[in-house]
Amino acid sequence: MPETPLVEHRILYPPIYRTGGVVKYIAPEGEYTIDDVIAEVETKEGTVKVKMWHKWPVRRPRPFREKLPPVEPLITGIRTIDTLFPIAIGGAAAIPGPFGSGKTVTIRTLAMYSEARLVFPVLCGERGNEAADALQGLLKLVDPNTGRPLMERTTIIVNTSNMPVAAREASIYMGVTIAEYFRDQGYDSFLMADSTSRWLRP
Ligand SMILES: Nc1ncnc2c1ncn2[C@@H]1O[C@H](COP(=O)(O)OP(=O)(O)OP(=O)(O)O)[C@@H](O)[C@H]1O
Ligand SMILES: [Mg+2]
Repeated sequence: MPETPLVEHRILYPPIYRTGGVVKYIAPEGEYTIDDVIAEVETKEGTVKVKMWHKWPVRRPRPFREKLPPVEPLITGIRTIDTLFPIAIGGAAAIPGPFGSGKTVTIRTLAMYSEARLVFPVLCGERGNEAADALQGLLKLVDPNTGRPLMERTTIIVNTSNMPVAAREASIYMGVTIAEYFRDQGYDSFLMADSTSRWLRP
């Protein structure tokens, strides 16, 4: 299903069903809502109706067959990072720094220029006006590879500092789950949380 001009939404067989089966029906090309059944899979436990969405609890990790070692570098497009602090595809990194030292600016640059296909910024515990600013800024960014709005390959999760602490925690899990959902579709997903210090120091 075309999601945006830059992203095709690949419909996943819900991984909650442990056993596979035989595809009995696939809907013909056309217009559907996300609630329509677009495929039916015959399994040992009965017929599974596949829609364009499925539920997944945010605290349960998505299943995977094998964890690949992070051996390939992620080219970020920022030479100082690629040279001095290389990040691996499948790895994790943190940008520590005091207030106003450029953490947010660095994250935005990574969102724009890194090789990752899809980006998932989680604005965690920012003040409302800062989150609005960040959103406005992101809306203006242009994907350097395609010239299209960066928003067409971006999903933003926002929670502001006046929201409950539980929401702050939930926002990170939510971001991880959405990023993993697209990772499972075969995309290189890049999740960034700005900032976890607001999360640890609620
Ligand atoms: N590489 C850079 N070159 C020049 N100016 C920069 C650079 N990085 C950041 N700045 C300036 O520093 C200001 C603060 O940066 P930024 O908002 O990224 O800091 P921060 O570490 O996220 O701060 P906070 O802890 O408050 O969230 C920016 O508005 C920008 O003008
Ligand atoms: Mg910041």
